[in-house]
Amino acid sequence: MSILDKHKVLEKNATLLLVFSFLAVTVGGVVEIAPLFYLENTIEDVEGVRPYSPLELAGRNIYIREGCYVCHSQMIRPFRDEVERYGPYSLAAESKYDHPFQWGSKRTGPDLARVGARYSNEWHVEHLIEPRNIVPESIMPGYAFLKDAALDMDDPAAHLSANRIVGVPYSDEMIENAKADLFAQADPDADTSGLEERYPKAVLGDFDGNPEKLTEMDALVSYLQMLGTLVDFSTYKPEENIR
Ligand code: HEC
Repeated sequence: MSILDKHKVLEKNATLLLVFSFLAVTVGGVVEIAPLFYLENTIEDVEGVRPYSPLELAGRNIYIREGCYVCHSQMIRPFRDEVERYGPYSLAAESKYDHPFQWGSKRTGPDLARVGARYSNEWHVEHLIEPRNIVPESIMPGYAFLKDAALDMDDPAAHLSANRIVGVPYSDEMIENAKADLFAQADPDADTSGLEERYPKAVLGDFDGNPEKLTEMDALVSYLQMLGTLVDFSTYKPEENIR
């Protein structure tokens, strides 16, 4: 009996085929899954990645509330076309403090994983108010109301604490200063030395063009402006981080 004839027996007997399929899947599954239980960490640490500042976190909440993720992913895949269009492919560490993460490949609009620092604050505000003022053929909805909506986050510390429970390393100091940091980041006159120490590379200043009022627009733009900017890709060498 040749090997093909033996295989024919399997193919013609449903029960036998099921038993052997089950065995094949089990062995494959054990080989793939078992090592994960012995690894301490499946995400390599990358220098520069830090938890979100309170204002960025508030902006992220608005991003999720408004369903921006329905049209935008935040995951540059390691394919040449994506890397040439959007920049260095996303590292797992860059979204390790995301709850929930914003990965995906279904995009109606462009990927936003590295949109930070690509445009000015004014560009973002104008674009969010009426996308067609900037990109005439855009099908993105306008979000003009964000500019009038006062940022309603009466207890930013609670948001940080909730994230700490699921593993984001917010320190006691970060939680104590959450409210002050929230306001300081969008206030051009504020003393931001503590904030900058706690959240290196945080983008500071008035985001929405109205320094008098802290709005949802301020928070959302502060979040957009930091996306993908934490890791310094001029010094990051992926091969050095492979263990
Ligand atoms: C119906 C789908 C849709 C939704 C919802 C949507 N967008 Fe967009 N977005 C687009 C499209 C399409 C573009 C490309 C055209 C343009 O720039 O307007 C775009 C472009 C952008 C850009 C410019 C990206 C670049 O690299 O040029 C930003 C930033 C952006 N969107 C942010 C947001 C935010 C923030 C939200 C939620 C408040 C949002 N979008 C909701 C479809 C959408």
